[in-house]
Amino acid sequence: MRGIFCFGFVILCLLAISGSARAQLQLGFYYKSCPKAEKIVQDFVNEHIHNAPSLAAALIRMHFHDCFVRGCDGSVLLNSTSGEQPEKFGPPNLTLRGFDFIERIKSLLEAECAGIVSCADTIALAARDAIVATGGPFWRVPTGRRDGVISRISETSAIPAPTSNFSTLQTLFANQGLDLKDLVLLSGAHTIGVSHCSSFSNRLYNFTGVGDQDPSLDSEYAANLKAKKCKSPNDNTTIVEMDPGSHRTFDLSYFTLLLKRRGLFQSDAALTTNSFTQSFIEQLVQGSVVPDFFVEFAKSMEKMGRINVKTGSEGEIRKVCALVNS
Ligand code: HEM
Ligand SMILES: *[C@@H]1O[C@H](CO)[C@@H](O)[C@H](O)[C@H]1NC(C)=O
Ligand SMILES: *[C@@H]1O[C@H](CO)[C@@H](O)[C@H](O)[C@H]1NC(C)=O
Ligand SMILES: *[C@@H]1O[C@H](CO)[C@@H](O)[C@H](O)[C@H]1NC(C)=O
Ligand SMILES: *[C@@H]1O[C@H](CO)[C@@H](O)[C@H](O)[C@H]1NC(C)=O
Ligand SMILES: *[C@@H]1O[C@H](CO)[C@@H](O)[C@H](O)[C@H]1NC(C)=O
Repeated sequence: MRGIFCFGFVILCLLAISGSARAQLQLGFYYKSCPKAEKIVQDFVNEHIHNAPSLAAALIRMHFHDCFVRGCDGSVLLNSTSGEQPEKFGPPNLTLRGFDFIERIKSLLEAECAGIVSCADTIALAARDAIVATGGPFWRVPTGRRDGVISRISETSAIPAPTSNFSTLQTLFANQGLDLKDLVLLSGAHTIGVSHCSSFSNRLYNFTGVGDQDPSLDSEYAANLKAKKCKSPNDNTTIVEMDPGSHRTFDLSYFTLLLKRRGLFQSDAALTTNSFTQSFIEQLVQGSVVPDFFVEFAKSMEKMGRINVKTGSEGEIRKVCALVNS
């Protein structure tokens, strides 16, 4: 009897040890090592975001791209690490902006406590603070992410394309441990921000290669885009609000538009081609089952922010976010 008890105790201890060796993110990770860290990020964002409110969209998108390639490890910020070009130069990079903004915050953090706060955490915190400062939802950002040392253009294929169909979206999200609700909720970030015509002009001008239009796109909306915004199939400079009329307001209107067949990308439209996601969108819009989009969105953002994070002694704390420490 006593033998079994001791044996059980040893197993429990082993489990506890193996659990703590795999360090985890925690709220207020810098509480002791750099007590002002989160405040520095927040103050900088609050001070500067009002000069460039569109950066809030850019930063949350940057966080998403960072997390989908090698986990949330700041690799999206790196310049070339070896022979290969970095993630920043990948096909999904259109309008990736805000690199300088993050670098400025990081230099303030380095001045306060050198070598302590990661670039990965800086993106995660700045993105959240920028969305909150511009009237969007709050989500918790547990910290303790460490920075990766590799960034490869070839790995940006993990990021969905605007032409992705439903099954591709489902697979790419599942690869990151995200489910269909996460897919819908996180796509809801398209309630803010802008897109270049080139991200969707195939839907307007040449959907199947015979000069046709995407039949799943509302034809009135398509005609309007062609007449007023994306006047030629090769326009790669004009930008369009993804949620026209409220592209600065984090609200449900993106989902309302999806139900009117006015999602801008094929990937947006794809969300209404599956019965589960279609009905989830209807529930969000009606507020019936999920009364609070912000609450659900926050849960999915926290989950996204945990994707394959490096913790403990993995990776490093970069000094400059664009460069691996030498
Ligand atoms: C589901 C798959 C997704 C696809 C295919 C996708 C694709 C795109 C594309 C093509 C653009 C426009 C780029 C341009 O032409 O300038 C864009 C913009 C944007 N995306 Fe997504 N996205 C997806 C998911 C997400 C997620 C998960 C988030 C954040 C949680 C997000 C946030 C944004 C934001 C805020 C913008 C506007 C950026 C700006 O104004 O600078 N997207 N997305
Ligand atoms: C990283 O590359 C960009 C150009 O893509 C350049 O402007 C920037 O100065 C580089 N950063 C560093 C620290 O070398
Ligand atoms: C995006 O990629 C192109 C090359 O593919 C590069 O010239 C451009 O600098 C990249 N954008 C950013 C923000 O790094
Ligand atoms: C979705 O797109 C992928 C990749 O382009 C393709 O292989 C697949 O057949 C498509 N699935 C459907 C259901 O159309
Ligand atoms: C549509 O795409 C096809 C195949 O890529 C191309 O041959 C054709 O010239 C395009 N038509 C227009 C009107 O751009
Ligand atoms: C945009 O289009 C012009 C003309 O078609 C081309 O020269 C340029 O390289 C394109 N830019 C990008 C970023 O694709």
